Amino acid sequence: MKIACLAGDGIGPEIMAEARKVLDALALDGVIVEDADVGGAGYHKHGHPLPPATLELAKSADAVLFGAVGDPSCDNLERHLRPEQAILGLRQALTLFANLRPATMFPGLEDLSALRPEVAREIDLLIVRELNGDVYFGEKAIRRLDDGRRQGFDLMSYAEDEVRRIAHVAFRAAQGRGGRLCSVDKANVLETSQLWRDVVVEVSAEYPDVELSHMYVDNAAMQLVRNPGQFDVVVTGNLFGDILSDQASMCVGSIGLLASASLGETQTAYGTKGLYEPIHGSAPDIAGQGKANPLAMILSLAMMLRHSFSLEAEAARIEAAVAKTLADGIKGADLGGSAGTAEIGDAVLARL
Ligand code: NAI
Ligand code: MG
Repeated sequence: MKIACLAGDGIGPEIMAEARKVLDALALDGVIVEDADVGGAGYHKHGHPLPPATLELAKSADAVLFGAVGDPSCDNLERHLRPEQAILGLRQALTLFANLRPATMFPGLEDLSALRPEVAREIDLLIVRELNGDVYFGEKAIRRLDDGRRQGFDLMSYAEDEVRRIAHVAFRAAQGRGGRLCSVDKANVLETSQLWRDVVVEVSAEYPDVELSHMYVDNAAMQLVRNPGQFDVVVTGNLFGDILSDQASMCVGSIGLLASASLGETQTAYGTKGLYEPIHGSAPDIAGQGKANPLAMILSLAMMLRHSFSLEAEAARIEAAVAKTLADGIKGADLGGSAGTAEIGDAVLARL
């Protein structure tokens, strides 16, 4: 089990240190962990956010554990040198097209949700976000029109095979959960969405045991705060999924709690090659202060053990230790508590 450990910049290294403690404590046989620089750390040390050696390591590894990138000192660099290009480049180079973002309410945190406790209590959903297409990867530019005005554009497009493969992942995920799948699009306005909807319906014929519904993204944003308990699995495109999953994070209390798995083409339900990271960024506003919540990173480690290495029991142990930590009232500043990054990591370790 070769794991590429890419901590990144900002709070990335701080939260990664806690996940590494947990991984070490499990003392798994046959694990090799190799570190490499990425994001701002890659740029400052090697002149590129995704240095060739880092990309090679990621390609040769069975799984990538990724912290966060987004060093603001790189904000004025050309786009291809910005830290965020590292994660986009990895997703593309490793063909990681399926991003799984579970959002589940931890017992004891209901009062910290942005929603009313009785509404928040019901949250147990999985957002399946497409990761290789959409406006993020379409042709894009800021150009001069003939009359001298500047015009910016980003092409939104999906080919049917791109929709089909993410739909299969989502239907299989629904089979493994509550059996309900909601496909989110904007088919009333966008042709891309009309094709998306048509293909999802076609794929649904192979999954008669999954109940499929469709929802426009604006309504989905509203329903997610009105009654999140109605959702089991949600499948959607890159842009809509990015926004809806950040929104879902606040429904469970903090963005510092949400982990994700980015997976590629597979034989089995989820396949082997995967990249695992918190959904948040590098939080430059709190970097270096030891107060970042490491739980999303630790839960990303659990997802890695489950999806890449089929170590379900170990993954469940980590998740139980995290739940116990929160239930025991050990919380960081993001959840209104006072525990620091290392203190939270140590608390998880003790309960493990
Ligand atoms: P962010 O997710 O880094 O931070 C948003 C807010 O949440 C901040 O107030 C931050 O302090 C807080 N926060 C985030 N993670 C936290 C944690 N673990 N514990 C406690 N508080 C936490 O998003 P923002 O500020 O929009 O972006 C910062 C940089 O990160 C940008 O350069 C952005 O492009 C990048 N970014 C990188 C991502 C990645 O590495 N995959 C994902 C999202 C943003
Ligand atoms: Mg985001």
